[in-house]
Amino acid sequence: MIKVQDLKKLYRMGTETIYALNGVNLDISRNEYVALMGPSGSGKSTLMNLLGCLDTPSSGTYQLNQTDVSKLNDDDLAEIRNKEIGFVFQTFNLLPGCPLWIMWPCHSCMPGSVVMPGWKRLDRLSPL
Ligand SMILES: Nc1ncnc2c1ncn2[C@@H]1O[C@H](COP(=O)(O)OP(=O)(O)OP(=O)(O)O)[C@@H](O)[C@H]1O
Ligand SMILES: [Mg+2]
Repeated sequence: MIKVQDLKKLYRMGTETIYALNGVNLDISRNEYVALMGPSGSGKSTLMNLLGCLDTPSSGTYQLNQTDVSKLNDDDLAEIRNKEIGFVFQTFNLLPGCPLWIMWPCHSCMPGSVVMPGWKRLDRLSPL
């Protein structure tokens, strides 16, 4: 369950303040599928970074499964990411020079990781 209230993320660039998110409210229930859509620069990545506990908001609250994660420190956020959140990155975040047969077990063993159907084929590509 995700509950976001009046979430703001500001970036200061010299004397300018950029309002990447300016008061987002959002409720997502268990088993609900949600697509986040908007024009370039509207704050999708900023919001995904906050929902994924990769970043913290400037203000507002974010409750993930009844825990207010908006004010947790880096270590606590890392634990939430490890146990509660699975990512499929747009760019796959593959490690350069690392063979797929090494990377695949790492990805698939991570708690909360999402194993795509295509990943299964990777072990058949294993050179050894
Ligand atoms: N680290 C940063 N420092 C300063 N401004 C930033 C930073 N990250 C994002 N922004 C600004 O915040 C706003 C939202 O950016 P964001 O990347 O979240 O948009 P987006 O919807 O994901 O765009 P796109 O569709 O192009 O990926 C933009 O104005 C962007 O320039
Ligand atoms: Mg983006």
